[in-house]
Amino acid sequence: MKVAFLGPPGAGKGTQAQAVSRERKVPHISTGDILREAVQTGTPTGLKARAYVTAGKLVPDEIVVDIVAERLARPDCKQGFLLDGFPRTLGQAKALDAILAKSSMRLDAMLYYAVSDEVVVDRISGRRLCKSCGANYHVKYIAPRKSGVCDRCGGGLYQRADDKPETVKERLRVYREQTAELIDYYRANGLLKEISADNSVEAVRADTNRVLDAVAVR
Ligand code: AP5
Repeated sequence: MKVAFLGPPGAGKGTQAQAVSRERKVPHISTGDILREAVQTGTPTGLKARAYVTAGKLVPDEIVVDIVAERLARPDCKQGFLLDGFPRTLGQAKALDAILAKSSMRLDAMLYYAVSDEVVVDRISGRRLCKSCGANYHVKYIAPRKSGVCDRCGGGLYQRADDKPETVKERLRVYREQTAELIDYYRANGLLKEISADNSVEAVRADTNRVLDAVAVR
């Protein structure tokens, strides 16, 4: 299963991708997670990416494409992968086609999570993540049993630095300007599968699984 997840910030891509990865044992590759870790640990890539991520802007294509090419070349991606947050520009989409073609592969589907701006703001403002295992919560919709503590590993929960209202506004603007055109690109090549992401996590998961089951039997 070679699938990518597209949609505005906060649409629920990461939540769904984490669940699919667990259930179907397919590696989850989130460029946002990789970049945040690089920034936090101060790697050369992290030092280059820091200002973009903090401002809610896209990291330049050449940096992100190299990260993804290196990750997809690892043995665990031979049977499949879930790309979350990549590609995000037309340049990245074309680079992905070229990376996969080199290994005689192609994407099976692009899952597009369609959601309204109101829902995006509500979801992002309540998002909390575990410092230790990365588990994803929402203070209202996916609340941990004990406030501020991860159910899975007991780690502390935190709010992402780029989830501040001003940065979210910028991320939405950047999405509309640079990423939304990918909807037409993947519709034109027949890979786009639209999922209504305004619904509950369980309903979106059921729709996601329906799409993935159809992709798996093709
Ligand atoms: P990235 O981490 O990819 O952020 P994003 O695309 O803006 O997406 P988010 O992680 O904010 O949201 P999501 O859709 O995964 O939602 P989630 O599942 O968490 O990128 C961050 C930055 O890195 C970018 O701004 C850029 O600087 C850089 N970057 C990354 N990739 C790049 C690339 N390819 N090129 C260049 N730069 C790149 O859900 C949100 C909240 O809602 C959570 O609290 C969750 O629990 C809750 N929730 C989820 N689904 C539901 C539901 N159905 N009902 C109720 N609550 C829900």
